[in-house]
Amino acid sequence: MDIPLTPRNAVPSATHAASQATPQTTLYDVVGEDFFRTLVHRFYSRVKDDDLIGPMYPADDWEGAEDRLRWFLVQYWGGPHTFQQRRGRPMLRRRHMPFSIGEAEAQRWLELMGSALDQFSDEELAPAYRAQLVEHMTRVAYMMINSNS
Ligand code: HEM
Repeated sequence: MDIPLTPRNAVPSATHAASQATPQTTLYDVVGEDFFRTLVHRFYSRVKDDDLIGPMYPADDWEGAEDRLRWFLVQYWGGPHTFQQRRGRPMLRRRHMPFSIGEAEAQRWLELMGSALDQFSDEELAPAYRAQLVEHMTRVAYMMINSNS
């Protein structure tokens, strides 16, 4: 039987070996599919009523929009690769080009997502995970800016 040469087999030092010995647990493993389903649903229920970014979204396909954002987040945080299978490579900047996104729109997106995240208790979402999610979303939101308005 072939034993793949992984860092685990290489055992360069006791500390290193220990850090490789357990399979990686992802944020998705910890919080689960339902967390992302609830988060995205709460987020889009806010987006629907938002004067600034609400009108950008497809009024006849909120369910589809929820699916797409959930698939993306689930995949990014270590869950199934449904986004890749159904939508292909993320290429988020390119996918946001049809929408005029300035700093105000990015900030509003983050504000609505922040308030959706705040609905979870610390038991449901540990503050350290909340911080990781916000850090990633903030980085992506600012990357989406494509307009000065
Ligand atoms: C900066 C402010 C943002 C605005 C104004 C914005 C707006 C939009 C709009 C109007 C859509 C189309 C809805 C649809 O039909 O799916 C969309 C799609 C999407 N957005 Fe954003 N977005 C923003 C930031 C983000 C961020 C931060 C993320 C990820 C963390 C993200 C991830 C996505 C994904 C995955 C899709 C679906 C892409 C696809 O499959 O076609 N967006 N966004």
